Amino acid sequence: MPMAGSYLFPNDQIEIERLDNQHELIKILLDNQNYLAPWSRDKNPPSKVLDVATGTGRWAVELGDEFPTATVVGIDLSPIQPNLVPPNVSFFVEDASESWEDEDASLDYIHTRFTTGCWGDMYVDIICKAFASLQPGGWLECQELQDIVYSDDGSLTEDMPLFVWCRDIVEASVRSKRPLVGAAQLRGWLEAAGFVDVQEKVYKLPINGWPRDPRLKKIGEMWQLNMQTGLQAFSYGFMHRVLGKSKAEIEVSLVDVRKDIVNPQIHAYNRFFVVWGRKPESTQMVSRAASISTAASSGSPTVSTPTSTLTMR
Ligand SMILES: C[S@@+](CC[C@H](N)C(=O)[O-])C[C@H]1O[C@@H](n2cnc3c(N)ncnc32)[C@H](O)[C@@H]1O
Repeated sequence: MPMAGSYLFPNDQIEIERLDNQHELIKILLDNQNYLAPWSRDKNPPSKVLDVATGTGRWAVELGDEFPTATVVGIDLSPIQPNLVPPNVSFFVEDASESWEDEDASLDYIHTRFTTGCWGDMYVDIICKAFASLQPGGWLECQELQDIVYSDDGSLTEDMPLFVWCRDIVEASVRSKRPLVGAAQLRGWLEAAGFVDVQEKVYKLPINGWPRDPRLKKIGEMWQLNMQTGLQAFSYGFMHRVLGKSKAEIEVSLVDVRKDIVNPQIHAYNRFFVVWGRKPESTQMVSRAASISTAASSGSPTVSTPTSTLTMR
């Protein structure tokens, strides 16, 4: 299974198709939008956009199409982006956890999606660097999955294979210093870095077609397919390489996880966070400058998980 650098997931054809399908799914979840930051084609288009860990680049290409006057750059460890792209879109192979010294505070929109599991510390590696690289008034938007499964009616219990699998994957990600959790802390991290007008929207991603609502049923069916496609690769990446389980052991345990994923009696869901915030004008930034350099040297601050409205929209 080909992989790139410190990233524990593959970048093969199966993964490329999974990422493209996941892109469509998230657009449906966000009511056919690619972003929640306050951009509009006529009144307020972005001018210089960076998509961090762009994957197959679908988001970047669609943003370039929607905003023809913007320059859109996508960076990723893997060169899995298409060659035929709009003239205002380009891709570069770069490790985003390294220094962003080429960025000169001229960007006005930075975006991440499905990147927990890529960084040792998302606050230091991405959020503080994004703050420094944005021009005053620019926006950072993070769209990230909290890789934990929940159910509101007790139909998923802690002894069930799906729950145990998720717990093991999260534990392995923390041990390998690529934590898959962090989405719920994003709002606090953006505020700690100095962003203002920070907003958070949390969506439920049903694990299969269990909801009655047709829109959520469709989203659940797409998410089920996505999990089924990625299950083996995620498991090998973390459980084999990090927890030392043999491939045979993993395959045996996945039989029951697969049964849970397709079981409509289990009303489980993941939580998908969209958090966006604005870099303030320079006069507001002075008091924050010290805290940013402290953060960069001391790691992410402990922030209480904000209470947010969990929406089935
Ligand atoms: C789950 S994919 C998400 C891709 C894309 N953002 C999307 O939503 O479709 C995560 C991507 O992060 C990339 N990645 C992982 N670590 C990275 C790093 N240090 N620098 C740049 N890209 C990285 C991987 O190569 C992969 O393409």
